[in-house]
Amino acid sequence: MAVKIGSKIKGVIKRDGKVIFTTTREIFPFVAEEGHGDRVTDIEGNRFIDFTSFVSVYTLGDDANAQIRNAAKKQMDKMMHAAFLDFYSELPVRFAEKLVKMFPPGFGRVFFSNSGTEAVEDAIKLAKIFTKRSHLIAFYGAFHGRSLGSLALTESKTVHKAHFGPFVNVSHAPFPYPYRSHHPDDPDECSKESIDFIENNILGKEVPPEEVAAIFFEPIQGEGGYIVPPIGFFKQLKELADKHNFLLVDDEIQAGYLRAGKFLALDNFGVRADIYTMAKAIGGGLPLGATVAHTSLGDTPAGSHAGTFGGNLVSVAAANASLDYVKRNMRSLQSKVKTKGEKIMKRLREMEDRYELVGDVRGMGLMIAAELVKSKRSKEYAVKERDKILMECFNNGLLLLPTGKSAIRIIPPIPISDSDMDKGLDILEEAIKNNSK
Ligand SMILES: Cc1ncc(COP(=O)(O)O)c(C=O)c1O
Repeated sequence: MAVKIGSKIKGVIKRDGKVIFTTTREIFPFVAEEGHGDRVTDIEGNRFIDFTSFVSVYTLGDDANAQIRNAAKKQMDKMMHAAFLDFYSELPVRFAEKLVKMFPPGFGRVFFSNSGTEAVEDAIKLAKIFTKRSHLIAFYGAFHGRSLGSLALTESKTVHKAHFGPFVNVSHAPFPYPYRSHHPDDPDECSKESIDFIENNILGKEVPPEEVAAIFFEPIQGEGGYIVPPIGFFKQLKELADKHNFLLVDDEIQAGYLRAGKFLALDNFGVRADIYTMAKAIGGGLPLGATVAHTSLGDTPAGSHAGTFGGNLVSVAAANASLDYVKRNMRSLQSKVKTKGEKIMKRLREMEDRYELVGDVRGMGLMIAAELVKSKRSKEYAVKERDKILMECFNNGLLLLPTGKSAIRIIPPIPISDSDMDKGLDILEEAIKNNSK
C-alpha cells in the first residue's frame, strides 16, 4: 500500500527544521512512532518493512528486543546511573567479564562509553598510550565516527571533514575494493596494492614506521559502500603490522555482533586485532560503546581516561540481556544470518543479471549491498537513480539506506520473516525495473 504523507508528518518535519541542527538525514519523510522488529510504524500509521535495523542497531529482532527492554526497565527502577568512573558497580563488571569471553583468548580489558565515535576515540588513546607513538594509519572510504579524533580516521566523504580540521596525524591508504580495483579478478593483487601503498608511500615517504602507533580498519567498510576486501587481505595487513610493531585496531561497530555471521566480523578473515571497538547493536537500542584490548597491552594510569556515563547501568543492563540472548541463541541466529543472507544475495544476483543498473552485489552474512551504475561497462556511479529507487521503495513501504556513492544497503534484523524479506525484495526489484531504461 502506498505510504501517505499527512499533516502530522509534515508538521514534525517543519518543526524539526526550525529547531534541530541538520544531521545526515536522507530524503525520507519517515517520522518514527513504534516498532523494534522487522516492521516499523510512523506517526500516521504507515507500516514499513525495515531493511535498515535502524543503522545496524536492532540486529536481533522482536523476541530479543522484548527481553532487552524488560531488563532495562527493571534496572531503571533500581538505579540508572552509578558514576562508574569514580565508584564501583557489579553489573558492568559482570557484563565485561561476559563480553571478553566473546573475544579471542587474552582479551582482556574493556572501556565503556556511549557511542561508536567514543569507542574509537578510546581506541586512539589506548593505541597512543600503549605504544608511546602518535601517528595513525587508516583507509580511504573508512567511517570511524565524527568526533575530532575519529573524524581524522574517517575518509569517506569530504563533507564530513570540511572546516573541521586540523586533525590528529593520520595517513590514508586505499582499501581493497574488488569491484573498482585494477585487479577485480585477482584478490591477491587487489590486496597487494593497498599493502604496497602503505609500505612505499606512507612508510617510505610520509612517516617513519617508528612513529606509527596503529592501523585502524573496518573488516567490511560500512558507510564507504559495504566493501568486502579479499579474504587474504587482513593476513597481509597483520604481517605488515607485526613487521613494524604497529597495533591493529578493528572497528566492529557496524559489521560486528553477528551481522556478518560471526560475533566479530574479522573472524571471517582468520585474523586477530589488538584492540576492538563495538557500539550500535551491542546496547540493544540504548547507547553503549565498548573498546576491548588485549590484556598484554597493559592498563591505563589512573586519571588518564574516563567518562561520566560510560558503564551506565541501564545501557549495560540492556547490553547484558542482549548478550545473554546471543549466547543462548547463537546457533539459530548464525543459521538465520546464513540462510537469509544467501537468499537475499541470490535475489540481488538475479537482479544484477537482469538490469544494467545493478553493477555489483556484495556482502557477508546479512550485511549486503547492491552498487548501482549507469552502465556495467563504464561503472559510472548511478547516484540519482539510486536515490530515486530508495524513494520509490520508501513510498511503497520499504525502509532502506544508501551507502557509499551509489549503493543500497540491506541490513534487516536477523530474524526477519521470509515473507517480509520477499516482499521487501519485490518492492526493490520493481523500483529498479521502473528506473531501468
Ligand atoms: C564502522 C563505524 N564506526 C564508527 C561509527 C560511529 O558510530 P556512532 O554514530 O555511534 O558515533 C559508525 C557509525 O555508523 C560506524 O559504522
